Amino acid sequence: MKRILVVDDEENLRLVVRSFLRRAGYEVEVAAGGEEALALIESFGPDAILTDVRMPKMGGLDLLATLKAKGSEITVIVMSAYGSIDLAIEAIKAGAYDYIPKPFKAEEVLLTLKKAEERESLRRENRALKQEIHKKAQFEELLSKSPAMQNIFKTVAKIADFKTTALITGESGVGKELIARAIHARSNRKSQPFIAVNCGAIPENLLESELFGHKRGAFTDASSDRTGLFEQATGGTLLLDEIGELPLALQVKLLRVLQEETIRPLGDTRDLKIDVRILAATHRDLSAETKAGRFREDLFYRINVLPIHIPPLRDRKEDITLLVDHFIARNNLRFATNLRGVDAEARKLLIEYSWPGNVRELENTIERAMVLAEHDVLTAEDLPERIRDAKDPVQLHLMSGELSIKKTSRVVEEILIRRALTKTKGNRTRAAEVLEISHRALLYKIKEYAIDL
Ligand SMILES: Nc1ncnc2c1ncn2[C@@H]1O[C@H](COP(=O)(O)OP(=O)(O)OP(=O)(O)O)[C@@H](O)[C@H]1O
Ligand SMILES: [Mg+2]
Repeated sequence: MKRILVVDDEENLRLVVRSFLRRAGYEVEVAAGGEEALALIESFGPDAILTDVRMPKMGGLDLLATLKAKGSEITVIVMSAYGSIDLAIEAIKAGAYDYIPKPFKAEEVLLTLKKAEERESLRRENRALKQEIHKKAQFEELLSKSPAMQNIFKTVAKIADFKTTALITGESGVGKELIARAIHARSNRKSQPFIAVNCGAIPENLLESELFGHKRGAFTDASSDRTGLFEQATGGTLLLDEIGELPLALQVKLLRVLQEETIRPLGDTRDLKIDVRILAATHRDLSAETKAGRFREDLFYRINVLPIHIPPLRDRKEDITLLVDHFIARNNLRFATNLRGVDAEARKLLIEYSWPGNVRELENTIERAMVLAEHDVLTAEDLPERIRDAKDPVQLHLMSGELSIKKTSRVVEEILIRRALTKTKGNRTRAAEVLEISHRALLYKIKEYAIDL
């Protein structure tokens, strides 16, 4: 701290303070009021401002408010005469660093400046550390400080420039698409298109022409030529999202495309050479799908050259706070709000919850909470019921001191059955399959546990 601006309407005081500050080695400028001070701040660039509270026209509080509104971080110290202590306290509340009661001795002022200086250097250090942490935790659009994710970031950086196919797996909302985008952004293809296609969202009969294109007249509705996504992604990257949903007939065709690096648009007689980096993503366990005969084994081996498995959010709880802060800051900008964060109770609930919808669910939860928030921090009341009541039933049961294996198994069994039914959208045949019990046994248990669908 070198430059100090002294603001007071009393000329005598300005001169006295200026002279002892100069003697102590500071550069000093003086102003007789708030307006004059504001004009000087630009040209002088003070590190600290010593200001009187009561001055004709613009006083110390208004000066402080104006500085804060501009986002200024200059240290402000107010000097207040006996009788205006209330104003000094108000100034501290408004963000002043300290106040010095008048009359004062030179040493008091110098000491206060010294203290302010120490705090300022701590603050700077703190900010630098925070930025450092943030830099380490950020990879393209992804934030994470979990070791597993850090390893994935390393892998992505390593493989980005190679044209190899990568298979990105992980539950819904863990960030599969963001990883795919990061691979593209880190590659030498980054100035070319990145195209994502959701194989599960396009009807089977349209998907083929969507991917490979078609010639006019190739089928009844083909009134003109159409360029397929493979061709549109030329030079860039094509993400085949939810590849587990790709119909078997198209799986054969895709395998051929990957092997030959050519495509043939529907109704065309010639093959087209393509230069596209293929990425695939799925929330399914493709090797299990392969065993069950729903996914071709040869295609699985062809795309599984480089598997990247993103762990669910509940297995990297250290990311929750980081992401919460990130989403709050981002929404503050979007909504022009000024939410400061989450209180201790809400934070605890957010960390304990199991996040079946992973980062996407967290993102939506924070957005919803911010819209509903009544205070300048998020509290437990702002969170949805499922998170407030998210007491893990297995944990609760174990905590009760229960020792019966039979009773405990029943608790777990019921949870697994409910989960399987949700996952298969109530399809009992599929549910029995993933539960690895017979269809009959499942029907019996549904009745026993009174699970209504
Ligand atoms: N590590 C992260 N840092 C910041 N945002 C993230 C992170 N992971 C995911 N997100 C955000 O969460 C949301 C879901 O991510 P993404 O769409 O990549 O997930 P996904 O695995 O493809 O999900 P789905 O299987 O449902 O398609 C997006 O809005 C994304 O921006
Ligand atoms: Mg996705």
